[in-house]
Amino acid sequence: DEEPEVHKGLAGVLADTTSISKVDAETNSLLYRGYPVQDLCAHRTFLDVAHLLWSGDLPTPSEQQALSEREKALRPIDRSLQTLLMQMPTTCHPMDTLRTAVSWLGSEDVQEDDPQANASKSLRLLAALPTVVAIDQRRRRGLDPIAPDPSLDYSANFFHMTFGSVPEPEVVRAFEVSMILYAEHSFNASTFTARVVTSTLSDLYSAVVAGIGALKGPLHGGANEAVMHMLSEIDGPEEAEAWLSEALAAKKKIMGFGHRVYKRGDSRVPTLQASLEEVAALRGADDLLATHAALAAAMFREKGLHPNLDYPAGPLYHLMGFDIPMFTPLFVMSRITGWTAHISEQLAANSLIRPLAAYQGTGWRQVTA
Ligand code: CMC
Repeated sequence: DEEPEVHKGLAGVLADTTSISKVDAETNSLLYRGYPVQDLCAHRTFLDVAHLLWSGDLPTPSEQQALSEREKALRPIDRSLQTLLMQMPTTCHPMDTLRTAVSWLGSEDVQEDDPQANASKSLRLLAALPTVVAIDQRRRRGLDPIAPDPSLDYSANFFHMTFGSVPEPEVVRAFEVSMILYAEHSFNASTFTARVVTSTLSDLYSAVVAGIGALKGPLHGGANEAVMHMLSEIDGPEEAEAWLSEALAAKKKIMGFGHRVYKRGDSRVPTLQASLEEVAALRGADDLLATHAALAAAMFREKGLHPNLDYPAGPLYHLMGFDIPMFTPLFVMSRITGWTAHISEQLAANSLIRPLAAYQGTGWRQVTA
């Protein structure tokens, strides 16, 4: 018998069509609804990009204002969710807190499962998740929550809720750029997970909870945390080469390098690397930046692998003052836009996602009593 062809890890498989983003490994480019992501970073806000991903177009000035007002209004979380957050063990990973919070928000939401209600749920999550993440970061440091400030825009408000102050405009902008770059990336593992859940006609919150679970892993979003853990183990740029040789000899995966789709470099890296360099200059973090560069150079020499987006994101979030375990929740705050855009797209032309497996186990056998 001819062996059936198995696409392990679904590598190279076109599972559906999408109009949300185009990842082009050949030209090393990423388009959100046709717009190059670098140009969106240069000229637009994260909320503009959310509008673009959800509706297909950038907002007009009046749509911009309406979205901003709704986002501000939806930031506060109610007392019951705050109590729940405070009861979560501080030993759990912040992604567990976030997953639980989304589940809770879903249990409170009495809206129907229709496209219009899904649009409002998507915005609700975009607006409320930063409040949850900020509370979680603060409680882990033994600090009380800070209420959202409607006079501040999305990123500035998030810094205010997390740290009680808003940093330099360059730092706020760098955060905004990271949110834009993390927002959407076609059929990555967590988005595909969300689409699988949606394809059974389950609800939006269930799909997002599943997406959070998929993003947590170190081969996906968890890599931004792993990058910073790794950089903290390396004692300066001159140690990078030796650290890498040892890690590769131990057959370790080096976090923040390689990509399933991009084999010639991640289209998003140069933009976030520039933000990292700007913030590192402001924070006087030359040594960290030099170690970061030395490791990337050594990795390219040894394995020919390029960094992915998590490689600049890890040290960037560290320099902004977030604790390492909070990094992947920051990714969620952004990717909630891509996930929910894909959930809507899946529902609009749904077909149950249900592949086959080539059975390799024991053949037929008789059950005996
Ligand atoms: N460190 C060491 N070796 C690697 C790495 C790495 N980071 N990435 C790939 N390789 C090797 C791999 O071992 C394999 O070698 P061989 O052919 O000798 O077995 C070869 O390169 C091909 O890699 P692969 O594992 O077949 O590639 P993949 O498409 O299955 O994996 C990946 C992609 C992202 C899972 C992998 O590159 C990896 O584990 N990277 C580290 C984790 C990471 O940074 N993830 C973030 C991904 S992008 C942004 C995001 O989603 O957050």
